[in-house]
Amino acid sequence: MLKVVVCVSGGGTNLQAIIDAVANGGITNTEIVRVISNNRNAYALKRAENAGIDALCVSPKEYADREAFNEALLEALQEKEPDLIVLAGFLVVLPEQIIHTYRNRIINIHPSLIPSFCGKGFYGLTVHEKALEKGVKVTGATVHFVDEGTDTGKIILQKAVNVEDGDTPEILQKRVMEQAEWVILPQAINMIANNKITSDIN
Ligand code: GRF
Repeated sequence: MLKVVVCVSGGGTNLQAIIDAVANGGITNTEIVRVISNNRNAYALKRAENAGIDALCVSPKEYADREAFNEALLEALQEKEPDLIVLAGFLVVLPEQIIHTYRNRIINIHPSLIPSFCGKGFYGLTVHEKALEKGVKVTGATVHFVDEGTDTGKIILQKAVNVEDGDTPEILQKRVMEQAEWVILPQAINMIANNKITSDIN
């Protein structure tokens, strides 16, 4: 059984896709052992509770400084002894200690085809705004391992999505989520749970 902790910051539709896939057999040999949010008001926490999953908020606002927050986050992870940490719309830059502790056991979903529209500052709607500004005809999503850089880790899965005439950043964001993110994130977890993917990064 792959023990997974999912880290979230917002609505949690990617989390929901994972919960649903575990329930309907799209993901096998996997248990979501905890959901952590840095934002107390994240609807994702409600989704976890509704599914009967341990849900915890670790907010930087509730700690004296960044160091104390980082330590609390590491503890919240370690308590559950996860085999895999999934960043599903988690808007916190992970401290190096967590990346070292869980080397090759942290994955992230990014809403573009890396190496396009990624790196520092490329999150949320901005990614889709930039894609539309550039005039690309195809965009998509990427699941990758997390290393010390921003969106630089080894790519696991990608899925392309067409840009259509008249797209707004909001419309494009929704299409990328529906057609790509909610598909490849559960798929990547299932592959890891069933030993179909390993990372050779050291
Ligand atoms: C997704 O677009 C994800 O790729 C990005 O943040 C968004 C999270 O959405 N990193 P949700 O909270 O899963 O609904």
